[in-house]
Amino acid sequence: MEQSRDLQIQKKKVPHLVILPIPFQGHVNPMLQLANLLHSKGFSITVIHTNFNFPNPSDFPNLRFELIPDGLSDDNKKWTEDPISAVHVLNDSCQESFHDCLSRLISDGPLGPVTCIITDEIFYCTKDVADQLKLPRILLGTSSASLVATMTSFKLLQQNGLLSISDGEPNTLIPEIPPLRVKDIPDIGTADPEIFERLGAETHNAMRSALGYIMNTFDGLESTELAKIRQDIHPMPLFEVGPLYKFSPGSSNSILTQDYSCMAWLDKQAPETVIYISFGSSGSFDKKDMVEIAWGLANSDQPFLWVLRSGSIRGHDSIELPKGFEEKMQERGRIVNWAPQQEVLAHPSVGGFWTHNGWNSTLESICEGVPMLCSPYLWDQNLNARFVSHVWKVGIQLENGFNRSEIELAIRRLMVEIEGKKIRERARDLKENAMHCIEKGGSSCESLETLVDLIMSL
Ligand code: UDX
Repeated sequence: MEQSRDLQIQKKKVPHLVILPIPFQGHVNPMLQLANLLHSKGFSITVIHTNFNFPNPSDFPNLRFELIPDGLSDDNKKWTEDPISAVHVLNDSCQESFHDCLSRLISDGPLGPVTCIITDEIFYCTKDVADQLKLPRILLGTSSASLVATMTSFKLLQQNGLLSISDGEPNTLIPEIPPLRVKDIPDIGTADPEIFERLGAETHNAMRSALGYIMNTFDGLESTELAKIRQDIHPMPLFEVGPLYKFSPGSSNSILTQDYSCMAWLDKQAPETVIYISFGSSGSFDKKDMVEIAWGLANSDQPFLWVLRSGSIRGHDSIELPKGFEEKMQERGRIVNWAPQQEVLAHPSVGGFWTHNGWNSTLESICEGVPMLCSPYLWDQNLNARFVSHVWKVGIQLENGFNRSEIELAIRRLMVEIEGKKIRERARDLKENAMHCIEKGGSSCESLETLVDLIMSL
């Protein structure tokens, strides 16, 4: 059945999809994974990408790339300092160039007429362009279903005056949306709350005429939240097709160069002993936090692989490790600028992931069955960490920032104590659920087929 439909696609004109990612690592990854996946289903794909963080096209032989200017200033390019502003600048300045590029592709592009466009949900300017050019549009949401479902409930309760929280104390539980606390509600990550509100409003508006909403998650993990989204939130079809990276393993979407030398080091370590540490593409720390992390790792006596990205220590161009640290860690620890994370998490010697809980990292850890130590710091990360520790119960959250003795204790709890063993068992179960979802007949596979059918019907 599936095979005959794939043949049908080949015989008919090949449908041409135009993809527009937001050019930040956590957003580019799932979008290009989706692009590769749809290519494998028989579609031709053009990726329209900003010159900021433009990927190397030779890493993506199945995709055709078009370049558009991004309009970002040097300040915006340090996007981690004010990511929401950078998103608005991208929307404001890309609308015209996206329109021009798309018009060109429609009239005489090498891959034929455009069937449909797929854009990141926060590239809200694409709604007007698609409406003007009368093109169907599908959105990709790159966060968890838990985030979408919970935040929508939170906003509704807030608007109707039904929230019982009376103070802003960060650890206060919000009884209407358990198990969240005040501090788990996405941080605005910007000095100006109005621009965050604008992002919510614009994104919401852009959903209105979209044909469908694709999510990088799977039913075996977030069935309750997906059902809630289906029922209450989005009247449009919802396609949960995650974990996307599992459908196209080994394809690197990394903007930074991944250092594969750590894999040989991992090969030398005993099974499930190494703790892997990475706080994503946007994390930055004060130097004193880096010092606490370093000594917490050194004192834990556990082997570790630490991603310490250049530029991630605020106010410092280069990274200077604390005196005596390298002598103490010797062969027990390894530091890299950027790792092949998916391969690292899948390595048998890795037994724990200390993460900032960006959605991609959280999903990758769950899908490789690796328990987490959670240190979220902004946006959806607090909510993801809360679900990891209190709903899926596959991790422990470090609640009080970075303190070397707390870090040492938490690493031991996760890596060697009974508590950690139980967490590991649950992590293995979730990994199995993920694998079932992407098998033939599994929920993500089925959802993908429905998405393909929808596009074919256009
Ligand atoms: C951002 C936000 O922080 C996050 O909250 C949101 O959910 C998505 O956008 P980022 O901080 O980069 O993303 O985190 P994450 O979503 O975890 O994505 C990081 C990606 O980079 C992952 O796919 C991971 O595999 C990759 N990575 C990370 C590497 O390839 N190498 C590394 O060393 C670290």
